[in-house]
Amino acid sequence: MADDTVLKVDELCTHYLTTDGEVMALDDASFELKRGSSIGVAGESGCGKSTLAFSLLNQVQPPGEIMSGSIDLDGIEVTELSEKEARRKIRWKKISMVFQGAMEIMTPVYTVGHQMKEPLKYHKDITGQEARKICEKYLELVNLDGSIFDRYPHELSGGQKQRVVIATALLLEPDIVILDEPTTALDVVVEARIMNDLKRLREELDISMIFITHDLSILAEVSDNLSIMYAGWIVEFGSANKIYKDPKHPYTEKLMAAIPDIRTDIERLEYIPGVPPNLVNPPSGCRFHPRCHKAMEVCRELVPETYDVDGVRVKCHLYSEDESIAESREATYETAYEDESASEEYVGEKGKEVSEGLAEAEKAEAMEE
Ligand SMILES: Nc1ncnc2c1ncn2[C@@H]1O[C@H](COP(=O)(O)OP(=O)(O)OP(=O)(O)O)[C@@H](O)[C@H]1O
Ligand code: SF4
Ligand SMILES: [Mg+2]
Repeated sequence: MADDTVLKVDELCTHYLTTDGEVMALDDASFELKRGSSIGVAGESGCGKSTLAFSLLNQVQPPGEIMSGSIDLDGIEVTELSEKEARRKIRWKKISMVFQGAMEIMTPVYTVGHQMKEPLKYHKDITGQEARKICEKYLELVNLDGSIFDRYPHELSGGQKQRVVIATALLLEPDIVILDEPTTALDVVVEARIMNDLKRLREELDISMIFITHDLSILAEVSDNLSIMYAGWIVEFGSANKIYKDPKHPYTEKLMAAIPDIRTDIERLEYIPGVPPNLVNPPSGCRFHPRCHKAMEVCRELVPETYDVDGVRVKCHLYSEDESIAESREATYETAYEDESASEEYVGEKGKEVSEGLAEAEKAEAMEE
């Protein structure tokens, strides 16, 4: 592993072994994180973002299981650690996480300080006074008053609670902090402030960060690299600048087009037709083919490889130099959004919710007209 690489993930697969079948939530994920740099992970709900995060901490809960692959965290093979070893050697100290919805699960009966001190007490042999000082230092770093240490969670606003959770993740000065939807429940002004603070903290503390969100528009400012996920796959990975300017994967293209631009007059926002698939029975070949506007005949049959396109890794047949695939580009395939029935067999629970939401929105729009 190169000296400046703090995390190297290779062909990682994590599945949920449920009574309804094996949910292929994360398949063949490979990427690297450089020291002090950041990755933004984006993709629709249910595409495997949180599963990736839990896998990196070796904290996937049953029925989930890391099936194969490797996670090299600064020389430690994470997939081989027992639960006890993971707690002692890596969590909080080397890699910490702000869990999705974490601010909602702060215990109301204990003060902020009581809850913040937990990881410090577990990992460091220090007095209560010393722990308090460290907590206050990090509360101030996230722009809170140190006196919040003595307050109860119900006395804080949503933004303040989220800052407490972020401060707690920083307490043991880990190499990497994962932030899973850190601002989803907050209004846009608070969201922007917190994202700015995170950017500043990353530079001041020289930590690597992995930001997870379904909202690509908030990643632009804080990510050096982007990892675009679809149905358990990383479909595009590389420089955020390059991907924002010139997305290569058809799914990324559509995600980018769905970001509203306040400088232009838009009558109707673009959205990706169809719905996310059921990961127990994902579509054959390329998992995006029933929704892809560039799908070809080969996409239905063959799983695409990942190709290097101008330094960006893209999992798509469009970039294959294989002659038989090139020939098949000629044969277009009628995608599921043109032929709705073609995608129905793949639709999962999340997909049904999205589909119902879209139908409602269309009904409301029709009534307005
Ligand atoms: N405990 C579980 N048991 C069974 N399936 C699960 C479990 N947790 C997640 N999954 C499934 O794994 C897939 C990936 O879920 P995950 O929570 O990682 O997605 P996500 O991208 O984080 O979604 P969101 O944006 O909604 O947070 C989904 O199909 C989900 O239904
Ligand atoms: S492999 Fe085919 S279906 Fe998949 S994204 Fe590329 S063009 Fe679309
Ligand atoms: Mg999630």
